[in-house]
Amino acid sequence: MPYVKELYTKPEDFAGKEVLVSGWIRTSRVSKSFGFIELNDGTFFKNLQVVFDDTLPNFSDVSKYHISTAITIKGDFVLTPEAKQPFELKAKEIILEGESSADYPLQKKRHTFEYLRTIAHLRPRGNTYSAVFRVRSMAAYAIHKFFQERGFVYVHTPIITGSDAEGAGEMFRVSTLDPMNPPLTEDGKIDYSKDFFGKSSNLTVSGQLNGEAYALAFRNIYTFGPTFRAENSNTARHAAEFWMIEPEIAFAELSDNMQLAEDMLKYVIRYILENAPEEMQFFNSFIDKTLVERLNFLVDSEFKKVTYTEAVELLQKSGKEFDYKVEWGTDLQTEHERYLTEEIFNMPVFVTDYPKEIKAFYMRLNDDGKTVAAMDCLVPGVGEIIGGSQREERLDVLLDRMNKLGLNEEDYWWYLELRKYGGAKHAGFGLGFERLIMYMTGMTNIRDVIPFPRTPKSSDF
Ligand code: 4AD
Ligand code: MG
Repeated sequence: MPYVKELYTKPEDFAGKEVLVSGWIRTSRVSKSFGFIELNDGTFFKNLQVVFDDTLPNFSDVSKYHISTAITIKGDFVLTPEAKQPFELKAKEIILEGESSADYPLQKKRHTFEYLRTIAHLRPRGNTYSAVFRVRSMAAYAIHKFFQERGFVYVHTPIITGSDAEGAGEMFRVSTLDPMNPPLTEDGKIDYSKDFFGKSSNLTVSGQLNGEAYALAFRNIYTFGPTFRAENSNTARHAAEFWMIEPEIAFAELSDNMQLAEDMLKYVIRYILENAPEEMQFFNSFIDKTLVERLNFLVDSEFKKVTYTEAVELLQKSGKEFDYKVEWGTDLQTEHERYLTEEIFNMPVFVTDYPKEIKAFYMRLNDDGKTVAAMDCLVPGVGEIIGGSQREERLDVLLDRMNKLGLNEEDYWWYLELRKYGGAKHAGFGLGFERLIMYMTGMTNIRDVIPFPRTPKSSDF
């Protein structure tokens, strides 16, 4: 039984032969004595055209099948070089696998993405999501391929952890205690020593700290897994559950880190342009008319680089009225990030060397004592897709920083030991997988690039 993908890849191999194909009806047009079915079998973006006529014993039943009915067809595969379709399947037998009702929600008209989110279990059967999620799958493969070809070791970092890698406190608690009746300590606080792990635990916000431990053993590693953030920002770019890729490289500094990030992004984009041309053409026609041209240009161009200090000056000089004023020392807001990458550079840009006050404790302090060796990669349309840095490998400087931030040394005892036993300069970054998919497809809401999105107040499915 061939897949539709194979029929499209090597039609000559099947020409004139009898084949068996299974799939779902996308559309059906029927007249008195014959009809056409556009069949999608899930293996390929395009449909297979099926023709049938009243020589079928069940012709009148087939004529009434609703959209999304699952069927198997036995028929002759014929090339039709003169027609709009390159080939078609002339049905000799159509077997009903599973009926679909008349009230199937995905009728042949345009639906809003908002509406389609409410039927997340059915939306992958339509064109847009079919394209998005095949691209997502291919991009995941391309990322593994990129790192594996370069000898990086894939590390599975824990999902449940006792550490707060970002020191930002936006974590989902994991506990076996009864929330209605938790054990209390003498001073009335929840007694986490009675909890499963004997201490308070949470879902991971980043695998980085564990990744650093493995980079200092394997030199080059990467993680690729789900990440959780309880930040209550109801935006088009934030999800409570998202996937992150976190490479970590030893004997490396910030410039190596940026080069790796740029190479990786270009590799994945090239892979998708080459291997998902139908899907990319679809996005280009229906989502963003300049997408393919822009991505093609980008893979052959160099990303821009500015320091945070330069970026602040550029934004101030731009004369643009922002909702939030830009001042040295404050974090860049989405509006600033997008202005930089969309209006000033019109290219992906790395912003480096942020003030230490607005970045995480593990970033390496620069010689000026004010900034850290951080890098954020901003892209047009999305904003930040990568956050990374060179790590503080000097134990005394790290301890000083942690003390100033009020972080508890005991909580990070093993992380600190990495600096004691052969610590080497190292760097890494985190790529938000959904944001990369948004960038490559032109989709503008994170809820539309993850199969079952977890955002505040929404966890159906
Ligand atoms: O900038 P972030 O917070 O960096 C880290 O977590 C570092 N530990 C990474 C590292 O150096 N290993 O997050 C990295 C990226 C962001 O640039 C963004 O693309 C994505 O993760 N991200 C989110 N994506 C979707 N929803 C959210 N709530 C996200 N928070 C971060
Ligand atoms: Mg960040």
